[in-house]
Amino acid sequence: MVHNGIIENFRALREDLAAQGLAFESETDTETIALLTRHHLDSGMTPVEAVAATLKRLDGAFALAFLFDGHDDLMIGARKGSPLAVGHGKGEMYLGSDAIALAPMTDQVTYLEEGDWVVLTRAGAQIYDAQGRLANRPTTRIRLDQARVDKAGHKHFMAKEIAEQPSVLAASLGFHTANGQTSLALPEGVDFSTCDRVTMVACGTGHYATQVAKYWFEQLAGVPVETDIASEYRYRQPVLSDKAVGIFVSQSGETADTLAALRHVTGKVARTIGVINVPTSSIARETDVALSIHAGPEISVASTKGFTAQLLVLLLLALKAGLDRGRLTEAQVSAHLETLRGLPALMAQALDHEPEVEALAVRLAESRDALFLGRGVMYPLALEAALKLKELSYMHAEGYASGELKHGPIALIDKNMPVIVLAPHDALYDKTVSNMQEVMARQGQVILISDRAGLEEAGDVWARLVMPNVPDLLAPMVYAVPAQLLSYHTALARGTDVDQPRNLAKSVTVE
Ligand code: AGP
Repeated sequence: MVHNGIIENFRALREDLAAQGLAFESETDTETIALLTRHHLDSGMTPVEAVAATLKRLDGAFALAFLFDGHDDLMIGARKGSPLAVGHGKGEMYLGSDAIALAPMTDQVTYLEEGDWVVLTRAGAQIYDAQGRLANRPTTRIRLDQARVDKAGHKHFMAKEIAEQPSVLAASLGFHTANGQTSLALPEGVDFSTCDRVTMVACGTGHYATQVAKYWFEQLAGVPVETDIASEYRYRQPVLSDKAVGIFVSQSGETADTLAALRHVTGKVARTIGVINVPTSSIARETDVALSIHAGPEISVASTKGFTAQLLVLLLLALKAGLDRGRLTEAQVSAHLETLRGLPALMAQALDHEPEVEALAVRLAESRDALFLGRGVMYPLALEAALKLKELSYMHAEGYASGELKHGPIALIDKNMPVIVLAPHDALYDKTVSNMQEVMARQGQVILISDRAGLEEAGDVWARLVMPNVPDLLAPMVYAVPAQLLSYHTALARGTDVDQPRNLAKSVTVE
């Protein structure tokens, strides 16, 4: 038996089974499912009856696959809270977590719905719903270009995904705009005209994308915004408004906490919008409107193109909110879209600096800790950069708003502390320079990532990385590139597993 998820009542089940004389070999909830099924088989049930009886007793979230000794033409799968899909082959059938996993075998996929379970033989599949009724779920043909999962000549998926950002963002911009990319083309349900606030919920990297977007929605649409981490939001008692728009951001569309947060507000706010990368995912299906970021499969556990493509779609949503609320005219939106058309080229220029980033990463890899600083939209980017370095290189890294430095973290600064400052030469630059000087006065090793004007003004820093000049709105996407490359090359220098960092899963389908 294979199990992804958590069985919440496994202790009670375990005690029950132990009382009936069954012996356990491990402490896992997974073994409990296997033993419970075995117990049902021993009482004379067929495999199908045994699984049906087992499923009735499980609380929690799971995707399950069962094989039975002596039944070589039978596999049973079940899903509740975790994704599961059936693949149709010629004279063979498959179970997988999603279309990407099944892509090397087949392009014919049936997605199971919440509570479904399926009996597979080589000849086909019979799907049952949570009530045990036969269910008819459609089989879809997945586009193989969407499921293409090779490294395209790169050493790692992460390297490929970083490199393809210019083309991903260009394509996504094309999908969401019309008239030669001069006007927005978002689905009808995307409407902010009567909303009294925007609530954005996500986890990890998606959450940092929403934190950047908060600045944009405030600036471009003048709408109050709250952002929260899904695992907190779902258990808070958020004050909901029936005029609010809820935006749920998730690359996989299957993150358990984000899905639970979405369900928490569904029906209580004016509308829910999903910003997702997998159009068949649970969050895509359960939001009122789902906008794809069109990033293509993201295989590396650390999100890179997913992050910048989320930022792009959130920026388009902020422009739409500005338009709907009369803060922006069509002409102003058009002008912003014109600026956005320059984004792929600027990202490509940022990518050109990879050799300098690599040399810097070799030095950074010697350190134990790192601090990232940023102001304005660069603050959430500093948080994202620190997350990336942590998950890839296992170094301790923190992101701070530059202005927070003197409220505590400055105590950490000494000659061994690298401080990476993300600071384009914008309206806030002078303030960041003073924060940098505070670091240098305490022998901190400042690595400044800025444009030429910023680097010239900064004076003597420990290391520098030059970025192209970027319009303010595009800076978070462009500056994400050196942050991603820095964590990638630091991980290489430290010899960690880039695509599959320890202890992490690509899609966190349990809370
Ligand atoms: C990012 O590098 C992460 N590994 C992680 O924080 C991720 O962004 C988070 O788990 C949310 O995933 P989602 O976008 O698929 O919901």
